[in-house]
Amino acid sequence: MKLETFLWTDDLSIGVTAMDDQHKILIDKINTLIDDLNSDGPNAYSDYKELARFVIEHFEDEENFMESINFPGLPIHRNIHKQLLEKVGEFDDDIRDGVVDKVKLVSFLKMWLKSHIMGIDMKYGAHAKTNAA
Ligand SMILES: [Fe+2]
Ligand SMILES: [Fe+2]
Repeated sequence: MKLETFLWTDDLSIGVTAMDDQHKILIDKINTLIDDLNSDGPNAYSDYKELARFVIEHFEDEENFMESINFPGLPIHRNIHKQLLEKVGEFDDDIRDGVVDKVKLVSFLKMWLKSHIMGIDMKYGAHAKTNAA
């Protein structure tokens, strides 16, 4: 099965440029991983490691941003990030060993990009807008 890559679409924008930019980088890194998984290339594991490294950085930046705008949903958001990181970690061994369940991986990535960014990140984006007004 060929894994579909992801496209940035404007409905993913949460209206905070710095975070939108990081989400675009996130999609790029996910796509690099997907391309290498599709071609069974030797770089899938290092792609995955790079993605995981960036995700940690992004979550930290996002949490610092939410703190800076006194976003009341920060504790809940922090918890969701923690769960996402655990999920990311669950794929580690399988990607390293080249036996990753691609269907599971794709549904996880889709959930992340659609539900997390559009459902969860959007909330602090809305809060940032209200505060700036
Ligand atoms: Fe995010
Ligand atoms: Fe987030």
